[in-house]
Parts: sequence; C-alpha cells; structure tokens
Amino acid sequence: MSDDGWPPGFFDRQEPGDDADFYAFPRFVTHIDEGAVAAVRDLYDELGVPDGRVLDLMSSWVSHLSRGPSGGLTVLGMNAAELAANPLAEEVVVQDLNVDPRLPFDDATYDAVLCCVSIDYLVHPVAVLREAARVLRPGGVVVLTFSNRCFPTKAVRGWLAADEDGRVAIVRAYLERAGFEDVTTALRTGRRWGRDPLHGAWARSA
Ligand SMILES: C[S@@+](CC[C@H](N)C(=O)[O-])C[C@H]1O[C@@H](n2cnc3c(N)ncnc32)[C@H](O)[C@@H]1O
Repeated sequence: MSDDGWPPGFFDRQEPGDDADFYAFPRFVTHIDEGAVAAVRDLYDELGVPDGRVLDLMSSWVSHLSRGPSGGLTVLGMNAAELAANPLAEEVVVQDLNVDPRLPFDDATYDAVLCCVSIDYLVHPVAVLREAARVLRPGGVVVLTFSNRCFPTKAVRGWLAADEDGRVAIVRAYLERAGFEDVTTALRTGRRWGRDPLHGAWARSA
C-alpha cells in the first residue's frame, strides 16, 4: 500500500467521520491571508501554470490563479456549491479523495495539478499524488502549497504534530514516495509577524 512506512497513527484524525458531513455547508472564505494568496498566485505564474490545462485538487470557489488557464480548469473538491461558484472552472468534480483516491481522468491529461492548503487532510496522500503523476503530461508540474492554518479536527495527526520545517519534510516525502524527482520547496512569503507563511513544493513529471 502506497501509504506504508509512516509512523503508526500518522494518518489518524480527531474527527475520522465522513468528510462529506464536515464539508456539507459551503464556506465562501479564503483560508489564508492576502499576502499568502498573492504568493500562491505568483508561484503559479512563475511556473507557467496558467499556460496549460489545469486540475485544482481539493478546490473551492477560488483557485488563486491570475487568469483562466488557456487549456481550461477542472476543479475537484467536496462542496458542490463552492466549486460551482469558482469563476474560472470549466469542469467540476465532487469527490471524496479519502474514500477513493483515484482521479477520474485519463492518463496525461493535464499540464499542471494543484493543491492549495489542503494536503494535510488526506489520509492517502501518496496514492493521490501517484494519481496526479498519472494524469500529468510529461513535463507537467504538480504544485502543493501550504501554510500553518487548518481545520485541526480534520488534519492528519502527523501534520498536527510537526512544526513548519517538519511539514515541509512531510510534503517532500509525499511527493518523492509518489515518484516525483527533483522536488523544490521554498517559503514563498517572508517571515512576517502575525501573517500567514506560504510554503510551496513542486516538481515536474518525467
Ligand atoms: C482549507 S480548504 C482549501 C480550499 C481551496 N483549495 C483554497 O485554496 O481555498 C480545504 C478544501 O479541501 C477539500 N477537501 C477536504 N477533504 C477532502 C477530501 N476528502 N476529498 C476531496 N477534497 C477534500 C474541501 O472541499 C475544501 O474545499
């Protein structure tokens, strides 16, 4: 099983119940502050994400892109109302990745797969990222961004127990175990008192 090798209990959650219940009501909020949102958008621009076909995993009403991707945007998440309100989305998929980590897309479909401030909620992250690798075209990019805020009852225990550097190491390990090579990680905001940090981790598919 792809998620083997982690300490016992790493993927336990305080609220292990159905994610569909937790995400039943739409939350039309941004989960990180303005500076962190800008850092996500700038990273996507720097990596050329808007110049292709894009899949935003664990998405909502915002994908933090500077413009609609030239090849179209697919959003996948848990709340249909949030996804329907995403102004850039051309295709919407409601799917619980903790129940079924398989992505309902053909091989080599996307130029970029994104996941913003959500990787901490996955109980089979390596399986999901292997799927990301499968649906990426050769040379396509996977981009994970994360901060220090979360819904603590839904984040996995290993994430909650880690400090910021530990979370960077966790995300790098997820990507490497999913088969991505040459993973880059960077703090994309400065360290600013009282402001959300924004880390990015990205890699290209072979
Ligand atoms: C903190 S929000 C982030 C939303 C969006 N990516 C953003 O940047 O604003 C977490 C998102 O993860 C999605 N999510 C949580 N658990 C999920 C699961 N098991 N399967 C698929 N999506 C999930 C929810 O729908 C929610 O929109």
